[in-house]
Amino acid sequence: MTIRNTFLQQCNRFRFFVRILVLLVLSVSLTGCARTQSTHKEIKIGVCAYDQYDTFLTQLIDCFDENVEDGVSVEYAYASQSQITQNEQVRKMIEKGVDVLCVNLVDRTAPNTIIDLGKKNDVPIIFFNRELVEEDITQWPKLYYVGADAFESGIMQGELAANMIRRESLNADKNGDGKIQYVVLEGEAGHQDSIVRTEYSVKTLVDEGIDVDKVGYAIANWNRAQAQTKMAQLIERNDEAIELVLANNDDMALGAVDAYNSAKISAVDRPIIIGIDGTDVGLEAVVNKTIAGTIYNDKEGQAKAMYDLSILLAREEPLNSLGMEDGRYIRLPYQKVDASNVLQFIHK
Ligand code: GAL
Ligand code: CA
Repeated sequence: MTIRNTFLQQCNRFRFFVRILVLLVLSVSLTGCARTQSTHKEIKIGVCAYDQYDTFLTQLIDCFDENVEDGVSVEYAYASQSQITQNEQVRKMIEKGVDVLCVNLVDRTAPNTIIDLGKKNDVPIIFFNRELVEEDITQWPKLYYVGADAFESGIMQGELAANMIRRESLNADKNGDGKIQYVVLEGEAGHQDSIVRTEYSVKTLVDEGIDVDKVGYAIANWNRAQAQTKMAQLIERNDEAIELVLANNDDMALGAVDAYNSAKISAVDRPIIIGIDGTDVGLEAVVNKTIAGTIYNDKEGQAKAMYDLSILLAREEPLNSLGMEDGRYIRLPYQKVDASNVLQFIHK
């Protein structure tokens, strides 16, 4: 009996060990499964912008954020207009292991530290909105640019202005001298959009056969408050009415409106004011007729292109679906906006 009992006890122990073993094997294989499922590791994207107070860029970044899907995390950093700060932000993001970076340079002529960091750590970089020169972007195959064609925005602004001047004829030429007295409110000095928009809007007006007379210009760094101050000075300095304000962006066009409001100049005595961007406030101003028009800078399209490119780069998948120029550039078209079509652009 005792021998039989001992034998049975040993059998039970053996069964117990076998069960434990089966459980162990099962749990190991299950964890194995879980690990295989997570081989689609989370994609990390770093987005760095030159400043947090730029209306167009803030809206572009909001659009980018709307694209983000499950399995993708994005970290945003704003450089308060310091290239040194931005270089540090990029360095930290790379240390944290981002798969791809989207960079809106502070100084588009100083991308070298960031390019070197990307190269050394094999992190592709999508520059956006502030275009670097060709010699810089061709330094490494994994450098890209997403933005728009600055020439197009200048040409469209000139065309829109020419059409309005022809349509309003006598109202536009307030002093009846056959010329349009105009001022330009310029964005940051050295920015490709300021340089090209300023030159091509005026060149197009002249090509369209409008006789123009430049009565002033001011650099207002894309900023509404600065534009208001500068526009107030231009109004004061000119004895006769200014007939056209070409602003390099909507915020500065709105700064001009603010200056006319403060000067209490009535609507009939105000110039045709045209911006660029089609930001929410810009479009609203077109609806309210405080500005005559704007040129839509396709933030939705640019944000989607940056996002799609980031994902393909992070997964190391082919990029041909994106239809890039020279394998590096994605440029979204601008569109003319005035009172006749503005509603199509609101809540686009
Ligand atoms: C331009 C835009 C401006 C400003 C600037 C910043 O494309 O029209 O409003 O956002 O970029 O780089
Ligand atoms: Ca005139």
